[in-house]
Amino acid sequence: MKVLIVYYSMYGHINKMAQAVAEGVKSVSGAEAVLRRVPETLPTEVLENMGALNAQQAMSGIPVCTVDELATADAVIFGTPTRFGNMCGQMRQFLDATGQLWAKGALVGKVGSVFASSNTQHGGQESTILSFHITLLHQGFIIVGLPYAFQGQMRMDEITGGSPYGASTIAGGSGERMPSENELEAARFQGRHVASIAAKLAG
Ligand SMILES: Cc1cc2nc3c(=O)[nH]c(=O)nc-3n(C[C@H](O)[C@H](O)[C@H](O)COP(=O)(O)O)c2cc1C
Repeated sequence: MKVLIVYYSMYGHINKMAQAVAEGVKSVSGAEAVLRRVPETLPTEVLENMGALNAQQAMSGIPVCTVDELATADAVIFGTPTRFGNMCGQMRQFLDATGQLWAKGALVGKVGSVFASSNTQHGGQESTILSFHITLLHQGFIIVGLPYAFQGQMRMDEITGGSPYGASTIAGGSGERMPSENELEAARFQGRHVASIAAKLAG
């Protein structure tokens, strides 16, 4: 059973969450976790001005996803940073290239799930995940979130991402904060949860 983890990350926060999602997927017997980045759409000079080149270099070993790969997976877990409360443009462009898959119904019945990051605590993590779900529903995905069985989303003793809609991390005003252990645990839970539901559907 193949679980694709398809993401965009500019400064590495979503990349770190994606690794944790993969750990969770792999903890399910028979589940393979495949990490993929979506293609970059910004010119190098823009990435340089945004201070993203070092992080991009560090992630360069993760292969870039093709649209057709989506059809080969039993489940797809998407990761995106927030852009004004929505998914990033790189992910939007990738999804907008899936029309052929939609026409064939190639993704109907697969499990789909989303995780996110934002700089500020209330900067749009939930709206990013929920608005992402609209595209997944059009494609026929069965949407899975992060149930309250992951109790780390209820804690009040520290600032944390994570909601019933999916795992998330708060990167801080200038991106200085990397995902906390609690946020990474949410990501592992989501990976495990998606893989075990996909396994039941495959059985
Ligand atoms: C154009 C743009 C729009 C953004 N919009 C938001 C926003 O609405 N709310 C927020 O909290 N952070 C916002 N951010 C911050 C990003 O979400 C943040 O850099 C990202 O979550 C870090 O994850 P990454 O390192 O994986 O890219 C924005 C960043 C950019 C470049």
